[in-house]
This record gives sequence, structure tokens and C-alpha cells, in this order.
Amino acid sequence: MRVIAHDLNGPLTGMNLTLQACRKLASTDAMRQLLNALATDLTSATDLLEELKSLNRRDTFRMQKIDLVAEMKALIDQVQSNPRVPIFIDLVDSNEKLTIAGDISRLRRAWQNIIRNTIDTAEARKDGERVALQVSMKRSGASARIRFSDNGGGIDRRRVARLFEPFYTTKGEKNRGLGLFIARKIVIEHHGKIRVSSKKPMTRVTIDLPALP
Ligand SMILES: Nc1ncnc2c1ncn2[C@@H]1O[C@H](COP(=O)(O)OP(=O)(O)OP(=O)(O)O)[C@@H](O)[C@H]1O
Ligand SMILES: [Mg+2]
Repeated sequence: MRVIAHDLNGPLTGMNLTLQACRKLASTDAMRQLLNALATDLTSATDLLEELKSLNRRDTFRMQKIDLVAEMKALIDQVQSNPRVPIFIDLVDSNEKLTIAGDISRLRRAWQNIIRNTIDTAEARKDGERVALQVSMKRSGASARIRFSDNGGGIDRRRVARLFEPFYTTKGEKNRGLGLFIARKIVIEHHGKIRVSSKKPMTRVTIDLPALP
């Protein structure tokens, strides 16, 4: 993965520079529109590359003590504050202090990727039914367990085994199939475990992370 990311750097930089030159030469609106479309695709390719590179950069790992419940509350508030988000999120915690050690920006990305999937299913629904996501947290042995359960439709049993593969998506061109792959990478970096199970219409993603005493 690291080698591929490195090899893509050159051509992408080249394309960005050529695009800027083309923009200066573009003389019609139609041409400018095409170049804008190209710029959008190029930006998403560049973002993806940055994401892959940052995942490989272990030195950017910033460990700190994390109050899990407080962090999750803050993240959920942030998601819910966007009125266009078509899901209802309910946070359930067992009133115990759950502290872990980790890199909060990476963990947030993992959680966001999982929540994003519930939002995607809600957006794809045609019945306008609001999808509910329950996020629950509790201590389970030596782990802090976070469970994301939604009722957005569920996943075919045949598919469950492939969900963590890079580029595995059932959503077509607009998604890259990297959300769960990245989430798992982050959880493993934190010496944790992640699994997905589904019983239609429910999907449940469980993350266990080593808890601090
Ligand atoms: N909550 C969910 N409900 C139903 N299906 C899900 C859910 N979460 C994941 N999936 C299935 O797992 C697949 C892989 O998810 P993943 O997040 O890795 O990729 P993606 O969402 O398709 O693309 P990306 O995350 O890169 O935008 C999805 O395409 C979808 O089929
Ligand atoms: Mg996703």
C-alpha cells in the first residue's frame, strides 16, 4: 500500500499542475465546466492518497488518555447538529468511567466511518423512514466496548465476510469501499478488535479497545 501511495504522488501532482495550466487556457464555459469536474475528481483522488499516506505514518500517532463517553457524546452532538443528517442517534452509557489510551483524531475517524455508513443507508432509503442508530458503551472485562446498532436494513450474510476488504463497496461509484477497512486498521493500531454482524434490518458494529484501569 505504501509503495502504491508513493508511486501515485508524482502523476497526481503532475495532473494538478496541468489542470491549473488548462484553466488559464480555457476559453469557453463548457471547457471550464469540464475542468471543474476534473478538479473535483482529482481532489478526491488526492485526498484519498493523503489518507492512505497518513495511515502509514506511524510517527503521527499521538497517544493520549481519552474519556470515551465524553468524546463519543461530542462526536454525536456534532453529527446531530447538521439538520440534513437523516438519522436519529441515541447514546446509551452505563454511567461508568471508560478511559482508554489512543490517538483521538484517528479514533474519531474510525467512529465517523461507521456512523457515515448508517447515514448512507438512511439516504438510500426511498420510504423516508428515519433510521435510528444506537451507540452504547460499557466495560466488558478488560475492554471498553462500543457498539453501533442501526435498523437501516442490514447486510446479506454472504457479504459480511468481505466488509473489511479494501475497495469492497455495494454502493457504486460514489463510494470507495474504504470506510471499514480504515476503521479496522485504526482499531488494530490501538490493539483492539472490531466486528460486524447483521440480522435484518439491524446492523451492529462492535469495537473493543483496551480499557485503562
Ligand atoms: N450500517 C450499515 N448498513 C448496511 N450496510 C452496511 C453498513 N455498514 C457497512 N455496510 C456495507 O459494507 C460495505 C463496506 O462499507 P465501507 O464503509 O467499508 O465502504 P463504503 O461505505 O461502501 O465506502 P466508503 O466508506 O469508502 O464511502 C458497504 O458498501 C455496505 O454494503
Ligand atoms: Mg463507508
